[in-house]
Amino acid sequence: MGSRTHADNCILAMHCTLAGTNKCNALCSSYIACHGYNGAGGRIANAGLPEEYRLVTLQNSPVRTDQAEAYTVIDSYVNTFQRQFGEVASDRQRIKSLYLFSLEPGTGKTTSAAAILNEYITRHYIGSFQRNRQALERPAYFLDVNAWQTLFLGFNRSHVPQETAEPLAAEYYAMEQRAKAAPFAVLDDIGVRSASEAFRADLHGVINHRVASALPTIYTSNIPIEELAQVFDKRLADRVRDMCGVIPFKGESKRGMRK
Ligand SMILES: Nc1ncnc2c1ncn2[C@@H]1O[C@H](COP(=O)(O)OP(=O)(O)OP(=O)(O)O)[C@@H](O)[C@H]1O
Ligand SMILES: [Mg+2]
Repeated sequence: MGSRTHADNCILAMHCTLAGTNKCNALCSSYIACHGYNGAGGRIANAGLPEEYRLVTLQNSPVRTDQAEAYTVIDSYVNTFQRQFGEVASDRQRIKSLYLFSLEPGTGKTTSAAAILNEYITRHYIGSFQRNRQALERPAYFLDVNAWQTLFLGFNRSHVPQETAEPLAAEYYAMEQRAKAAPFAVLDDIGVRSASEAFRADLHGVINHRVASALPTIYTSNIPIEELAQVFDKRLADRVRDMCGVIPFKGESKRGMRK
C-alpha cells in the first residue's frame, strides 16, 4: 500500500472520481455529509457508530478473508439497498433483514454489521444525490444493545438521584426512538441473556416496530436463531425471523489479533 491520503479517511472514496486528487480533503461537501466537519456531525456519527467502526467498509473489513462465505452473501445482499429508492412501497419493503450469528465471540460480526451499515449510508447518500433528493440526516442507526441496557440499569437502580437518572433516561429513550425511526438499523448483540422483563419489553418494542413497518435490520447475536424463543419469547423470535437471512460466522475468536 502507498502512503495514506485523505481518501483513506472517507467511506465514499472508492466511488469518488476526486478521491486522492488535490480536491480530496476535509472541506469536501460529500466528506462532510458523511464524516462531519472538524470531527463533529455527519451521517456516520449520527448513526451512533462507535469511533473504531467509522471507516470500516465491506472492502477494507479485516474479517473479509476469513469469512469469505459470509461476505459472498453480504456482497450480493447490499445490492438490494437500491430498492430503498423504489417508487412503489412493495419494492422498498423487499430489503431483507440479516442475522449475523456465531456461538463463539470475536468472529467479526459487529465489524461486519458496521461495514454493512456504512454501505447503506454510502448508497443512500450517493443514490439521493443522483436523484436530486436531500439525503436523510439519519438513514441508518447502530444500536449497541449492551450499552442501551447499561443506560437502562443506570436509571432503574434504587436510590438513583433524579439529576443522575434524568439524563440517562432521556438518552435511553432518544436511542429507542432513533432505533425505531431509522430506515436501516443494526441491533448489535441482541442475545442479552440477563435482561429484566422491563428492558426486554423495550427491546421487543423496537424489533416489533421495525418488523411491522418492514424496516430492514441487521442483528448480531451469539444465540442460534432457533433458540431465541428461549431467551425472549416465541412471538419476538418469530418477529426476528420474519424476512431474515441467517449468516453464520465461523472459527474461533480473533479478538486482539488486529491487523
Ligand atoms: N476474521 C478476522 N480476522 C481478523 N480480525 C478479526 C476477524 N474477526 C474479528 N476480528 C477482529 O476481532 C475483533 C472483534 O471483532 P468483532 O467485535 O467484530 O467480533 P464479534 O463477532 O462481534 O464478537 P462478539 O461475539 O463478542 O460480539 C475486532 O477487532 C475485529 O477487527
Ligand atoms: Mg459483537
